[in-house]
Amino acid sequence: MVDVILGLQWGDEGKGKIVDYFAKNYDVIARFQGGPNAGHTLYVNGSKIVLHQIPSGIFHEDKINLIGNGVVLDPITLKKECEAVASFGVDYRKNLFISERTHLILPTHRALDQASEVSKGQDKIGSTLKGIGPAYMDKTGRNGLRVGDLLDKTFITQYIKLRTKHQILLDNFNFQEDISTWEEEFFESIEFLRSLNIVNGEYFINEKINKGMRILAEGAQGSMLDVDFGTFPFVTSSNTISAGVCSGLGIAPQKIKEVIGITKAYCTRVGSGPFPTELLDATGDFLRNAGNEFGSTTGRPRRCGWMDLVALQFACMINGVTQIVMTKADILDALEELKVCTSYTINGVETNQVPFQMNNLNITPNFETFNGWNTDISNLNSFETSPKEMKNYIEYINKFLAVPVKFISNGPARDQIILT
Ligand code: GDP
Ligand code: IMO
Ligand code: MG
Repeated sequence: MVDVILGLQWGDEGKGKIVDYFAKNYDVIARFQGGPNAGHTLYVNGSKIVLHQIPSGIFHEDKINLIGNGVVLDPITLKKECEAVASFGVDYRKNLFISERTHLILPTHRALDQASEVSKGQDKIGSTLKGIGPAYMDKTGRNGLRVGDLLDKTFITQYIKLRTKHQILLDNFNFQEDISTWEEEFFESIEFLRSLNIVNGEYFINEKINKGMRILAEGAQGSMLDVDFGTFPFVTSSNTISAGVCSGLGIAPQKIKEVIGITKAYCTRVGSGPFPTELLDATGDFLRNAGNEFGSTTGRPRRCGWMDLVALQFACMINGVTQIVMTKADILDALEELKVCTSYTINGVETNQVPFQMNNLNITPNFETFNGWNTDISNLNSFETSPKEMKNYIEYINKFLAVPVKFISNGPARDQIILT
């Protein structure tokens, strides 16, 4: 049995916290896409830690954590992350496993990401510059190197061949930076990676499913950043939606049961691209400050706005979401009035559908307005005793999406969560 937790917006919905919370109910926690562009924040005994590639189940001693074939893996970041979790007493040599089919991010992928963004000028995607796009391009272009290749004695020859191809592209971009330090770090880190548990991920996970073990697939980014269904081209380079679980882990679709979608009680986006409900006013600034909306990976300020039910409904449809977790409800505590977007007006026509492209459209969001609850809910531990304004807000969302909000998160700590 496989359940999935994924983001329904533009990322940073609180997946790390929620996966860490749910991990107790599972045997295996597996990442199926993305790479070091992700930043999943967890609090362990009061200390904050941000995971980029290691699944968010790593702090549960008895759980298996798998980095699946759909991930693109930067060995340099992985080594640093392993050292960081080890400082919390985690024995990653025992409970971290990596699929041999996982593609590697090379130093030249990172360089290409930078060079490509610079060449786009005003039209830049706002990439995290971690080499994600170029690494996935080499995967689909059938050039990439995989974790399993590290164990082959021809690895260095394969590496040089690919690096030479990349150098031609970098010369074309007129990329001047010296990447020799990255390369030194890369070779140190692949030595380390070779010493970890490298497995045949698809047999590994299916054997566990067949034994009746419970699997939790952990998404990165969010549905609106999906390469097919997101706000293309301002997206990431992988399938962030539930379909990505099958190809990113080697799991058949009928094995998937619950699809748990996470949304913030409002909405954020980091990087460029359309964001219909964005607030460029004092309320937007309030959400950024109260919600500490600064990127977990890059530190960039996140753009903030109201919840967008048109986009959320679309995300529920393409993912087959069966239940919703609403995070950061506590950030709305101080607001007198709340809004949710219920339709878009595009060229004078009202629609409740997400258009195939939003970049060159003038989209006006139409809102439903609610009274805020204006109470501190961070210590709340039952839905029954929650403010009636919050109940109204949730009830409206439930009805609109026809998917229940099952949990409300009211603070960053593991136990700040209420069952509705
Ligand atoms: P992820 O990428 O989806 O894992 O999310 P991030 O970790 O990038 O960003 C979510 C941020 O919100 C982190 O700083 C979390 O600690 C924090 N967070 C998660 N849930 C809540 C919540 O319910 N309330 C508050 N105040 N913070 C939360
Ligand atoms: P988590 O898992 C928020 C955004 C970048 C950029 C676009 C493409 O923490 O939710 P990329 O580096 O993938 O080429 O960037 O996607 N982005 C994220 N935004 N959270 C993330 O991950 C993100 N990963 C990528 O800001 O706009
Ligand atoms: Mg994040």
